[in-house]
Amino acid sequence: MNGHATSDAPDVGVPDWTPGVHRAGNVFDEMIARLGPEVDALVAQYEDSRSALLPIAHLYQEHEGYVSPNGIAAIAHRLGLTPAVVESTVSFYTLFYRKPVGKYMLQVCRNLSCMLNGAEEIMAYFRERLGVGHLETTADGLFSYEEVECLAACDRAPCMQINLEFFYGLTKANVDDMLAAMRGGTFGVKPLVQTKPPGRSWHVVQEAGKKSAGGVGVVDPNNAGGLGDRSGIIMLDRLLADPSFAQRTHERAVHEPNLQPGEEHGH
Ligand code: FES
Repeated sequence: MNGHATSDAPDVGVPDWTPGVHRAGNVFDEMIARLGPEVDALVAQYEDSRSALLPIAHLYQEHEGYVSPNGIAAIAHRLGLTPAVVESTVSFYTLFYRKPVGKYMLQVCRNLSCMLNGAEEIMAYFRERLGVGHLETTADGLFSYEEVECLAACDRAPCMQINLEFFYGLTKANVDDMLAAMRGGTFGVKPLVQTKPPGRSWHVVQEAGKKSAGGVGVVDPNNAGGLGDRSGIIMLDRLLADPSFAQRTHERAVHEPNLQPGEEHGH
């Protein structure tokens, strides 16, 4: 596709946000200051602040249109995590976009139930009507299109999400109606915020042999939640400290058909 304002860089760039520094007039800094109380309220809902990572990423995306390198840096700083941890979480889900996207994110399910109920035809129709393929954004920046895995609405296949809202029982006719409503500004789902013009794709291609932006300075970014980070084993510690845990494991053990005599008591 031609006519896009930005190119497809192989990475998502490095943040220019600095903790504790507010640059008057800087869009990102203004957003962080504005969202501060809401972020604090989200963190306060959890015993472990790390649990607020996903809701905060959703909040930033709602206001920035995507989770930018600055967003990743700010979330990491707020939660006391490395940017590698935040980036690895955000990059895991198709719910988050690490580059600017269109005002309408169209995500069509391509999994089994949907395929058996006509998703292939629907996907082909979207591609034809929009003139873009999987993981591409239209030149006018209005639509981003992606084919995703099961959306957990298999009983109402074929289905899709538009800006993360569900739409079921897709047909060519209702696809036409929805696209017309989005183009005409009358669609029932709010368009996404666009703080930057989208490029051809929001897909992030990692350059072979190079660390991603969030992993720079991290010794082992692929093990960001592992050694040296106890958050993953806190739950196990708590279970083991719970006196009723031993009883529960014993109950399970005595129902194990292959159990040898004495094993249920740990002998
Ligand atoms: S297969 Fe499409 S929602 Fe499950």
